[in-house]
Amino acid sequence: LSSIRVDVGGLEPGTQLTVQWLGKPVFIRRRTEAEIEEANSVDVSTLPDPLARNANIDGTAPATDPNRALSQGVEGETPEEWLVMMGVCTHLGCVPLGDGAGDFNGWFCPCHGSHYDTAGRIRRGPAPENLPVPVARFDGETEIVLG
Ligand code: FES
Repeated sequence: LSSIRVDVGGLEPGTQLTVQWLGKPVFIRRRTEAEIEEANSVDVSTLPDPLARNANIDGTAPATDPNRALSQGVEGETPEEWLVMMGVCTHLGCVPLGDGAGDFNGWFCPCHGSHYDTAGRIRRGPAPENLPVPVARFDGETEIVLG
């Protein structure tokens, strides 16, 4: 598996970038407190897909916001600030639009109308699963290693 390094030092809260990895887009978002709060206000048992879909943790882990987010692993970080996930709709593979798109202020797939929330979890529409979180980790405070 080929891994890549992404410098996220220039990302302000409320912004994101998209990188290509293994031929697919990966969304990296530094979330605002409001986005994190919104993600945490949801009862996980009501979600269409209740699983975290995070390759870095157990496959049966629930889709809570902490289970979706990527920690920098440093003291003083804002918990759950970073969200890293594949930018591939789990319905038929289109690339969802981001930056607060859709009815749940996260991502919206225009192909057939799937709405994802601020944690990238499917909330409405035909997509069956949450946007998957790939193998990823921070190396230092500003570099993310994918793969
Ligand atoms: Fe995204 Fe169909 S591919 S809703």
